[in-house]
Amino acid sequence: MDAIKAIECRSSTRAYMPKALSDEQVRALVEAGLRAPTANNRREIRFSVLSADNEILSQIEAEKNRLRNISAPERNFYYDAPTVIMLAAESGLRWSSVDAGIAVENIALAAEAMGLGSVIIGCIYDAMRGDKCEHFHRELKFPDGYLFEVAIAVGYKAAEKPPHTYRAEKQVVYI
Ligand SMILES: Cc1cc2nc3c(=O)[nH]c(=O)nc-3n(C[C@H](O)[C@H](O)[C@H](O)COP(=O)(O)O)c2cc1C
Repeated sequence: MDAIKAIECRSSTRAYMPKALSDEQVRALVEAGLRAPTANNRREIRFSVLSADNEILSQIEAEKNRLRNISAPERNFYYDAPTVIMLAAESGLRWSSVDAGIAVENIALAAEAMGLGSVIIGCIYDAMRGDKCEHFHRELKFPDGYLFEVAIAVGYKAAEKPPHTYRAEKQVVYI
């Protein structure tokens, strides 16, 4: 699949088959993140790769629900995808969030090109950076001085969703 096709076809997947990804698939996804450009070639993004059965995901889910006063969520934040990749960046850098965003989108497009589904996850941001910030960052093995930015869940699609629509005339101006 070429890059334009992957960009055109990608959409967020919120239902996954209970089938694990192979080590090669996971490695290819992480490599897509590592190949993303970073400001000043700082390469400050750190990737923590988890399987769905990792207990830390339940802890993050519980903290997210506690902060949002949700007692019985319909689905967990990673939609039971088999693989979740958490991204952190060195804190205090001007372009951390942009760099993490580019890396996570590289992973999303790689997943699409590999015939997999993905969803970028921001809903755990407050949970990750709140009271349990230190505990979560330690468990995810992020180095000191690094802070969670964004995550992505990846797996085999169990549902298809058409790509989102947009109104170019509203969003773009050619000068
Ligand atoms: C920074 C960011 C954070 C997001 N956080 C979540 C999230 O926590 N949960 C979720 O289901 N989708 C999340 N999304 C997915 C968006 O809702 C989705 O990209 C948007 O609705 C457009 O749909 P599409 O991805 O299918 O094109 C996030 C997307 C981005 C870029």
